[in-house]
Amino acid sequence: MKTFDRPPDPTSLTRRSLLQGAAAAALIGLVPGNSAALSARASAPPPADKSKSFPDQFLWGCATAGYQVEGNNLASDLWALEHIPNGMFREPSGDACDHYHLYAQDIAMLAELGFNTYRFSIEWSRIEPEEGQFSSAELNHYRRVLTACREHRLTTLVTFSHFSMPLWFARKGAWSNPAAPDLFARYCERTSRHLGDMIDFASTFNEPDIPQLFNWLTLAPTEGSSLAETFERALKGARVVLNAPEFAGFFLGDGKRIRDGLLASHGKGKAAMKSARPTMPVGFNLAMSDDQPAPTDSHVAEKRADIYGPWLEAARSCDYLGVQTYSRALVGKRDLPPPQGAELTQMGYEFYPECVEGVVRYAAKEARVPVYVTENGVATDDDTRRVEYYRRALTSLKRAIDDGVDVRGYVSWSLLDNWEWMFGYAPKFGIVAVDRTTQKRTIKPSGAYLGNIARRNSL
Ligand code: BGC
Repeated sequence: MKTFDRPPDPTSLTRRSLLQGAAAAALIGLVPGNSAALSARASAPPPADKSKSFPDQFLWGCATAGYQVEGNNLASDLWALEHIPNGMFREPSGDACDHYHLYAQDIAMLAELGFNTYRFSIEWSRIEPEEGQFSSAELNHYRRVLTACREHRLTTLVTFSHFSMPLWFARKGAWSNPAAPDLFARYCERTSRHLGDMIDFASTFNEPDIPQLFNWLTLAPTEGSSLAETFERALKGARVVLNAPEFAGFFLGDGKRIRDGLLASHGKGKAAMKSARPTMPVGFNLAMSDDQPAPTDSHVAEKRADIYGPWLEAARSCDYLGVQTYSRALVGKRDLPPPQGAELTQMGYEFYPECVEGVVRYAAKEARVPVYVTENGVATDDDTRRVEYYRRALTSLKRAIDDGVDVRGYVSWSLLDNWEWMFGYAPKFGIVAVDRTTQKRTIKPSGAYLGNIARRNSL
């Protein structure tokens, strides 16, 4: 087992943090719509019995990703892709949740709800908007974000690359470019030198297995074309419009080449982070479905070897593994569509919260390092279904922990309703709603529900 720098003890309350809590409460109270959540917190049931408790020091958090919430990431490949006619996005990200400016308020709200952890990503395209040109101002921005977390005694999980990348890097072939590992490592080194002392857990990549995962998914066609066709069209369009024949992206290009590039970049990026701060725990976050065999002709083992195999191997030399899951997959030659009559989420997945249990059992056994659930949640307009999803997901997680699976934290996706990539703002994953005209935040009952579990460290 690896030794970590101890993250701040989220359970010890100081006078300062109490005052900060009060300040945050006042702040949230100013936002209409939040009084219900606060009174729910005030009347939170007393700590439940021991059999419902999670391990001491368990991390309870919410996640966001820079591109999905900050707004106006003008130097990112995605910003360019969003503005190509006939592109792959339903709507542009625009101001998103303006988290770039409202981070202090959002972080205070997260802490006040009862969480002790914030997972977020930093935007490479802000930090290095042109090749070799690093912005101290942007690095200082993220230092302020980390400082706000520290002031609220939040443990920080920081992802260095969450899908988006600098446009200049994408123009050169992104992860398929043989120079990618060195370019990424340079960014990791600079950034870790500037921010590393404030980061409790660093991650090189969010879901680097996604390019391979796409080969197994059977997603409903959008606007008449399959996912593969949509990506192909977007890639060709981008190369022409941007006059960049080598252009590639996280989702766009040859899956196997992207995977090899990501694996090499993870290795060099991790070494670069460690060179800046040797004791900083480093890992990554893997996208996993709870893979279950189809009634006939199951290819679960093949799927697992293809998608997760190389990454689980890489995880063995990490300090931890983050796992992210939303549903199960019945695996035949490819993933089968959800069973007839199954409840579906806004994303078209089966509503299947117990995926958490299946995934942590498998991942912990294979990776042999401590596991953190770094994303889990549901896209729905009906918040009562979100509460139910979290209730069942956490009950299933508790079963695995009681059986001895080494899971040390649970981070929900997502803190805010945000820009869901190709699908724009329609899917609602947040425990907090965002009015995109006024940027007003409104805590949903699921936010109070999950926050109370976090505060009690118990179901
Ligand atoms: C990603 C998030 C995304 C979420 C919900 C994960 O794959 O890391 O960026 O919004 O799933 O679809």
